[in-house]
Amino acid sequence: MSSSKRPWTRALVTGPTAGIGAAIAEDLLLAEVDVVAVARDEARLQALADRFPGRVEVFVADLADAAARAGVAERIRATEAPVDLVVNNAGFGFVGTFATADLDGERAMVDVNVIALMELTHAAAGVFVERGGGAILNVSSVAAHLVSPLGATYAATKAFVTSLGESVATELAPEGVTLTTVEPGLTRTEFHTRASVDYSDVPARLWSTAEQVATAALNGAASGAVTVVPGAHNKLGRGVLGNLPGPIRRRLSLAANRRSGEERRDGR
Ligand SMILES: NC(=O)c1ccc[n+]([C@@H]2O[C@H](COP(=O)([O-])OP(=O)(O)OC[C@H]3O[C@@H](n4cnc5c(N)ncnc54)[C@H](OP(=O)(O)O)[C@@H]3O)[C@@H](O)[C@H]2O)c1
Repeated sequence: MSSSKRPWTRALVTGPTAGIGAAIAEDLLLAEVDVVAVARDEARLQALADRFPGRVEVFVADLADAAARAGVAERIRATEAPVDLVVNNAGFGFVGTFATADLDGERAMVDVNVIALMELTHAAAGVFVERGGGAILNVSSVAAHLVSPLGATYAATKAFVTSLGESVATELAPEGVTLTTVEPGLTRTEFHTRASVDYSDVPARLWSTAEQVATAALNGAASGAVTVVPGAHNKLGRGVLGNLPGPIRRRLSLAANRRSGEERRDGR
């Protein structure tokens, strides 16, 4: 938890019911930034609103659903109680073979990790350029820089997030609007339980807490950074692994994902 001052009035945060999004929402609320909280689990959203009376707008939405996404985009463009920070954090992954993957699950992952993020980034970029200011914070992953056999679609969604972010940030800079992409490594959240993977044999020093990622991400967004990689071990891993010769990179990644479990569930 950080008590830093934050330069925003109201933030829309997707996925604030758990993990990194919950830590981001908490940091913002403690820094007197109101939050529009977007996720599926209404009870958890309401619990957040109850902890910060009058400060949290509960917005129940399944970001895999096109109509729900359009509603969130409309909220971003609203002139009443306007938002000046949009955090695209909601996301999930699977581990399993692509050829046998349930296509509906893969499609839902692309809808949430890619389509929702792209649509909400588009809504925010448009309205922030009109207003001459605002910030966007998108959550990618160090996986954006790795091939990931047994996690193919997930890594590809994050490669999209990182590429889109760096390009759009460059377009927005002259308009006084910032787009920051954060690339966490392994972070203790509900992500791995939801994905039915077991990384319990990964040494503790390679894990971050959700609070560490949230603080680094929000500090980066506040300073207008284009990319944030929380943790020295992740900066090193991203650089080294991303630049290994293809055959070695693929073998290492396959071995890591095999160890973590090949069982595929529905990701929720
Ligand atoms: N944990 C890691 O090791 C790690 C590493 C790199 C990147 N990341 C990224 O960090 C982001 C946050 O993940 P996390 O680790 O904090 O996972 P988490 O603890 O499982 O939280 C995921 C959040 O996303 C929301 N969400 C999932 N599907 C949704 C949907 N269809 N519609 C709306 N909201 C949805 C969930 O809310 P509801 O269930 O209430 O809808 C929840 O609040 C993700 O983009 C993930 O890819 C995580």
